[in-house]
Amino acid sequence: MKTSPHSKAQSAAPENPLDRLVALLKPDLLAVNALILQRMQSEIPLIPELAGHLIAAGGKRIRPLLTLASAALFGYQGTRQHKLSACVEFIHTATLLHDDVVDASDQRRGRSSANALFGNEAAVLVGDFLFSRSFQLMVEDGSLDVLRILSNASAVIAEGEVLQLSTANNLETTEAQYLQVIRSKTAELFAAACEVGAIIAGRPAAECQAMRDYGMNLGIAFQISDDVLDYAASEKRLGKSVGDDFKEGKMTLPVIRAIAKANAAERNFWNRCMTGSGQKDTDFSEALALLRKYNTLEASLTEARRYAELGIKALTGLPNHPLRQHLQDLIIFAVERDY
Ligand code: IPE
Ligand code: IPE
Ligand code: MG
Ligand code: MG
Repeated sequence: MKTSPHSKAQSAAPENPLDRLVALLKPDLLAVNALILQRMQSEIPLIPELAGHLIAAGGKRIRPLLTLASAALFGYQGTRQHKLSACVEFIHTATLLHDDVVDASDQRRGRSSANALFGNEAAVLVGDFLFSRSFQLMVEDGSLDVLRILSNASAVIAEGEVLQLSTANNLETTEAQYLQVIRSKTAELFAAACEVGAIIAGRPAAECQAMRDYGMNLGIAFQISDDVLDYAASEKRLGKSVGDDFKEGKMTLPVIRAIAKANAAERNFWNRCMTGSGQKDTDFSEALALLRKYNTLEASLTEARRYAELGIKALTGLPNHPLRQHLQDLIIFAVERDY
């Protein structure tokens, strides 16, 4: 796995919560990475070539880490979490392949996106392959509860992406609609990744629900932060293009809030830029200036912090275990990260 830009020399203690979780769960994560590499294989050479391009670039592996952490926190002793973590990461990877086609993004994980290198057709089809592989892994696990949770997440993600497509370019999009989009396209998989760890450990329903609630709130906070970073981050640290949401007319929280406060001239600006009637080179910096004028990037992060607090509250419903503190640190990091 690629180490994050925050990691220092090998011997130093990891300085951020994500790297600390990676270090704690290292043997499990190695097993998951081996499974991912093994299961992305196919005798059709373009499949491992394209999937390998994206997978070898690393990524943060947050979702599989959640499944591993959840299973460990609940004292699960077997190895089912490895296949299920690989399954979760395959679902995520498939959605990234499709998402970069839909968003016309040309960078991902610090590299050219698969669609930019191999073309849209190949990226979509290999995304389908990875989705299918994830279902094979669910079937191998054999639990109908797990199958229900992960297949549901997969369907809900697709709904979220389609709903987002329907709200794009629409200035009337509400915060409630935005929340429905991000719950579906992002938070549902975080929730499912957490929940399956509790399920395989055979925990009572209330604990499975608490773990799920943590994941859901983490996912919402993570995506709000990601939407802020799409305007405010350094591209090099982020490893993907900044400004794609603006270019595609995505109605994300910072924009929705700036539009709510816009005067007539500003509304005209948003109308021209977000509804596809043409953007000029200077428009992105003007948009950023408007977000700053109304402080909506910071206000969005405040909203993300509110969800982080809800996630932390959900953790109190879990058994007392050192990993609880790590999950608490992770949810704060998800909001405060700059990549
Ligand atoms: C990217 O997810 C898609 C979003 C939900 C914003 P990550 O930021 O977890 O992507 P990788 O796996 O680390 O590249
Ligand atoms: C991420 O959505 C894709 C999914 C969650 C399915 P975005 O389009 O907002 O994320 P990035 O910026 O491409 O990673
Ligand atoms: Mg995208
Ligand atoms: Mg998208």
